[in-house]
Amino acid sequence: MTTFSNSDYNSDNYRKFRPNYQQDLYQLVYKQHTENGANFDVALDVGTGTGQVAESLAARFQKVYGIDSSSTMLDSAIKGNNIIYSVGSAEDLSQFGSQSIDLISVAEAFHWFNHSKFFDEVQRVLKPQGTLVIIGYSFLLLEGQQEATEKTKKLELELTPFFEKGHEHLRSLYRDIHIPMHNVQRLYYPRYGSEPFMRESFTVSHLRSYFKTSSAYKTYCAKFPLANDIVDTSINEMLKEGQLPENQLFDVTWESVIILGHMR
Ligand SMILES: C[S@@+](CC[C@H](N)C(=O)[O-])C[C@H]1O[C@@H](n2cnc3c(N)ncnc32)[C@H](O)[C@@H]1O
Repeated sequence: MTTFSNSDYNSDNYRKFRPNYQQDLYQLVYKQHTENGANFDVALDVGTGTGQVAESLAARFQKVYGIDSSSTMLDSAIKGNNIIYSVGSAEDLSQFGSQSIDLISVAEAFHWFNHSKFFDEVQRVLKPQGTLVIIGYSFLLLEGQQEATEKTKKLELELTPFFEKGHEHLRSLYRDIHIPMHNVQRLYYPRYGSEPFMRESFTVSHLRSYFKTSSAYKTYCAKFPLANDIVDTSINEMLKEGQLPENQLFDVTWESVIILGHMR
């Protein structure tokens, strides 16, 4: 169980302040899925959280299942006529039949899973032409603002010890994890191509709220209830030093990866 399962985790803020994934990312995934001869009947988003990916998949698939081990996160999930959410773990997909799913997605959750159990289940439930897509994002990049990017990275590194075990895989963008599928592709931003998989326009207030959705921030606050707010302190410093535009939107992207794997 992660911090996201705590009943006092603010899942509404997660939905509001976490980024969405660019449509280009989905187009890339669908292109490969089609080339592999797969269908668009049923998709399963594992660790769906508040359903950002499930919502996008629902525009293309007949039916989308979103499962998460946290009912708190699912309480704030984006609704859709063809989306069915349920509490469930990545390691036990027994609510789904063998060879019943065309595409399985995981976004920003894979690092928390027991990988061998998850992959056993993926091999069982995916249809023979099926696709697995894993998305992960790590450090924030403030476009064209080197100093501010370094400062936010410093803040993220300060929070790092307060993540649960598993987070270290995300920091390496899953380079350390073997993916037992066929034709595995790993696409990294910023190294791969020029277009980010994720891009948002943030205000300073959104940036604060984004950092405060982190499970590590929540653990930090519980551990040091009397300390100055670690996020506000860092952002106020950046404002004071003129590294952030106070009343203006600015573009942010993320160091990120898409991993694609197929059944054959
Ligand atoms: C950072 S959130 C990602 C949510 C969403 N997929 C996104 O892209 O924003 C990670 C989610 O994974 C869920 N999670 C963690 N371990 C899990 C597991 N073993 N099985 C299912 N869900 C899990 C958490 O409850 C949380 O909702």
